[in-house]
Amino acid sequence: MFADRVLSGMRPTGSLHLGHYHGVLKNWIHLQQQYECLFFVADWHALTTHYDTPEIIEQNVWDMVVDWLAAGVDPSQATLFIQSKVPAHSELYLLLSMMTPLGWLERVPTYKDQQEKLSDKDLGTYGFLGYPLLQSADILIYRANLVPVGEDQVPHLEFTREIARRFNHIYGKELGFEEKAEQAIKKLGSKKSKLYNELRNLYQEQGDGGALEEARSLLTEQQSLSLSDRERLFGYLEGGGKMILAEPEALLTGASKMPGLDGQKMSKSYDNTISLREDPVSIEKKIRTMPTDPARVRRSDPGDPNKCPVWQFHMVYSNHDTQEWVQQGCRNAQIGCLDCKSPIISAILAEQGPIYERIQKYEEDPTLVRNIIADGCEKANKLAEETMRDIRKVMGLNYS
Ligand code: TRP
Ligand code: SF4
Repeated sequence: MFADRVLSGMRPTGSLHLGHYHGVLKNWIHLQQQYECLFFVADWHALTTHYDTPEIIEQNVWDMVVDWLAAGVDPSQATLFIQSKVPAHSELYLLLSMMTPLGWLERVPTYKDQQEKLSDKDLGTYGFLGYPLLQSADILIYRANLVPVGEDQVPHLEFTREIARRFNHIYGKELGFEEKAEQAIKKLGSKKSKLYNELRNLYQEQGDGGALEEARSLLTEQQSLSLSDRERLFGYLEGGGKMILAEPEALLTGASKMPGLDGQKMSKSYDNTISLREDPVSIEKKIRTMPTDPARVRRSDPGDPNKCPVWQFHMVYSNHDTQEWVQQGCRNAQIGCLDCKSPIISAILAEQGPIYERIQKYEEDPTLVRNIIADGCEKANKLAEETMRDIRKVMGLNYS
């Protein structure tokens, strides 16, 4: 609806590992250079599953933010904040709950999946059922249109889009909407209003998605249009009322190429991680003891890199020549597995070096991180407040 805005959150799981780095953080670092970005710690979301261990939250929050910064997430490019320090998220969550059909929440696939997966916990709670709605509030409150997430979060994004649509449908009606929209079209000037009408027809009559996109960018460029006219024209394009909340799109991160030490997904719960804070001795030990293709019992036995988790690491860390050397050497039993692992150890150490130094810097002076977050929270609060003003108004709450 407005210029592109990226938002993503991470539950505070404490210090991060190489899976987070290659799967998520590098993507964030890339995005922060192209878009306005907001990245936050979803500490309330942590409580939906860990409400009985509140003592772990705080340390996990700060460790995670330090790791973001050390990995290269840059507070001069992106806004970094903590969910619970922007109380408007909870206000929007409450207001949205008024119009959220219970069945929609019960049908989000992660609801039953996670309950089954974490069966040692009692997740028959109101808060856990509301998990996706809280996430919707996180996104909608900033009118973020791009949300980088993994595949597992797609149902939450789809749910959020439905909430936004329902909200716009219920609260986006205004008296004389059509006339106001027609007047707003005239304000575009004759050439652009003609183009707007053409694109709107193409979309409404033929479902032409390209025309919709083009019309949207036409509107985004119209700096002189007032905010409410712009909302009207966005809504009018699709035939609805005024568009108050933007429907976000998932920016799929793509499965991380970084597997764990045992070839499964890298995850704390599988105990197969290398932490961003791992010391060099331990990195070396973990790689040296990694399992390899079981066919290579003796050094003279040929192997197949496709059956070896070490090869996956080469795909992330090694250049073409090294990869060739592995392929040939492994298949012809010309190299030993320890030889093969050696460039991986060097590559991880080289990658970790500067990250580790930055972690030290932030650990030595905790005020650095506190200040960055305080700054980010202030910015986030301002942005959230802008949307909340509109929302309170259409929900009949703007009296004093
Ligand atoms: N549910 C997300 C996860 O588990 C974390 C999250 C919370 C989030 N709020 C969000 C992600 C808003 C993107 C946008 O990974
Ligand atoms: Fe794996 Fe390398 Fe050994 Fe082949 S040589 S089995 S790729 S560690």
